[in-house]
Amino acid sequence: MIINKPIDMHLHVRQGDMLKKVLPETTSQFAGAVIMPNTIPPITTLEGVLKYKEEIQKVSGENFTPLMDVFLQDFTEEEIRALKDNIFAMKFYPDGITTNSESGINSIEDIYPTLELLAKYNIPLSIHGETNGSMLNREREFAPTYEKLARDLPNLTIMMEHISTKELAELATKYDNLKATVTLHHLLLTLDDLCGGALNVHYFCKPTVKLATDRDALQELVKSGHKNVMFGSDSAPHPLKNKFKGAAGIFSAPVILPALAEFFEGDESKLQRFISDNAINNFNLNVVDKSVELVEEEWVAPRMVGEVVPMFAGKRFNWRVK
Ligand code: DOR
Ligand code: ZN
Repeated sequence: MIINKPIDMHLHVRQGDMLKKVLPETTSQFAGAVIMPNTIPPITTLEGVLKYKEEIQKVSGENFTPLMDVFLQDFTEEEIRALKDNIFAMKFYPDGITTNSESGINSIEDIYPTLELLAKYNIPLSIHGETNGSMLNREREFAPTYEKLARDLPNLTIMMEHISTKELAELATKYDNLKATVTLHHLLLTLDDLCGGALNVHYFCKPTVKLATDRDALQELVKSGHKNVMFGSDSAPHPLKNKFKGAAGIFSAPVILPALAEFFEGDESKLQRFISDNAINNFNLNVVDKSVELVEEEWVAPRMVGEVVPMFAGKRFNWRVK
């Protein structure tokens, strides 16, 4: 199975030693990735973008394209003009909703002038769409905000990140300017995997994995090949000791292509759309010309990568990345 230019549209690679350990798990499988800006401190300036990109490229070398995101602020037109040629998108996290996400913006409607500027300069807006309501309802409760933004700002391309519910799976095909990314874990796991038996801290993330009805709706959406829908892993490594302190995030990077090859077996053209073509067409993306070959051989997922336990640690797969 050959996959052309696989792209991960939502990736956390952290900094320093952690970055050096986890990034090769992505560069060995992907031509490019959209890099999340919730570092310490968050990426909010051109200087921050360039410095982080350099840190990434020192590890990845030339044969990988990092597409940089900036943490959305109440930017001026001058600031946006300075950033626009060096970033892929701006990321909005409701204040304090997840790891390193204290933005100071409570409601996205407060910064419509900034959003108009994003539309003017053709910069996509990427959103972690959850309210601070009750755990299982947070994402559904955010749906009206997504719809309002899509209608109020028809020239702005909005990405609903890591959609995890049936409601958002339905919303993902309703507006041309409202795209969605889907993770491996929301596609394959439910609450029963997280805490139906013994608690599995490695499957704790935000938004949380949900019910089988939600997972099934996401599977159907992804298998439809709809142009709005793209793969974004939200692979989010935390050292083992932090997982036991409650850190949210699933480190899926090492197992993505073997797991997706199994999921799409017999329907490889849909995998190609999900993991590359839709992203390239939606955003006119330019990434290095890299194809990845999978061979039908048994492969066992690693139990640890540095200090991090990956998703599906120790599981056997029928496909291996050559
Ligand atoms: O589970 C998550 N982990 N969700 C996020 O939105 C952030 C991520 C992280 O950075 O650890
Ligand atoms: Zn994320």
